[in-house]
Amino acid sequence: MADLLVLDDLHVTFHSDTGPVEAVRGLSLAVQRGERVGIVGESGSGKSMTGRAILGLIRPPGEVRAHRLAFDGQDLSHLPERRFRRLRGRRIAMILQDPKYSLNPVMRVGRQIVEAFRTADPALSRRAARDRALAALAAVQIPEADLGRVYDAWPHELSGGMGQRVMIAMMVALGPDLLIADEPTSALDVTVQMQVLAILDDLVRASGMGLMFISHDLNLVAGFCDRVVVMYAGRVMEECRAADLHAARHPYTRGLLAALPSIEGDRGDLPVLQRDPAWREAPP
Ligand SMILES: Nc1ncnc2c1ncn2[C@@H]1O[C@H](COP(=O)(O)OP(=O)(O)O)[C@@H](O)[C@H]1O
Ligand SMILES: [Mg+2]
Repeated sequence: MADLLVLDDLHVTFHSDTGPVEAVRGLSLAVQRGERVGIVGESGSGKSMTGRAILGLIRPPGEVRAHRLAFDGQDLSHLPERRFRRLRGRRIAMILQDPKYSLNPVMRVGRQIVEAFRTADPALSRRAARDRALAALAAVQIPEADLGRVYDAWPHELSGGMGQRVMIAMMVALGPDLLIADEPTSALDVTVQMQVLAILDDLVRASGMGLMFISHDLNLVAGFCDRVVVMYAGRVMEECRAADLHAARHPYTRGLLAALPSIEGDRGDLPVLQRDPAWREAPP
């Protein structure tokens, strides 16, 4: 099957007064339909900038270069903004860590979802869009009794967990082919986190959506994804089946795994991750 997303030798560079900063340096990866790909790596390794580059959201002085950046066979590397706008939200969607930055603060939640539906389908009546918005909220496990309240709420009135679900409802309501979820559950408590993962999992299974799941939580990714890409300093250090993550060989991945807090609790000092300068240059 053809790849849904192909990144080949992706570079994201920011030009600053002190010279260029390379946030992503030659990253290559692919995502298939119906595949859950986890992207892990310590903070600053270029995970978010990779997601933003795919959506055409890197603004000057940032610059994106790639040997190939293709979505569903379509080259994105020179796509004009007008064409990107047609892809964003409809075919490629992104869920950000903090919904407060993604929802419009001065528009009620229900209205935003309605607008999203009507933008995608201008022929849709208000009434039908409202029904769909309520159904989308119900689909992200918002209890029946709370639906009306959430629909009429302002974004700031929502708890973190509710806000995250509203974001997911809005993004997935449009049925994207590819969803980039950037730390979608890191602000949530464990039970809500599990519910959100179940929703994402349903979407992958039911619609064959490809999922790029960005996280710094190796255990979560190992359990939830099909494949894991380990990033360091803007590159892929290692790639493996999620089920094999705990047996990963690369010293960087081993270091990340060793740094995970143990469930048994107290085990002395946290190990310090020793970074080898050579990792920045040659992939293993
Ligand atoms: N506007 C910017 N100007 C300069 N450097 C930036 C800018 N935005 C991000 N970076 C750099 O890009 C690198 C990767 O960032 P990011 O993709 O957000 O990391 P991650 O999501 O893995 O934590 C970081 O080292 C960060 O300092
Ligand atoms: Mg990030």
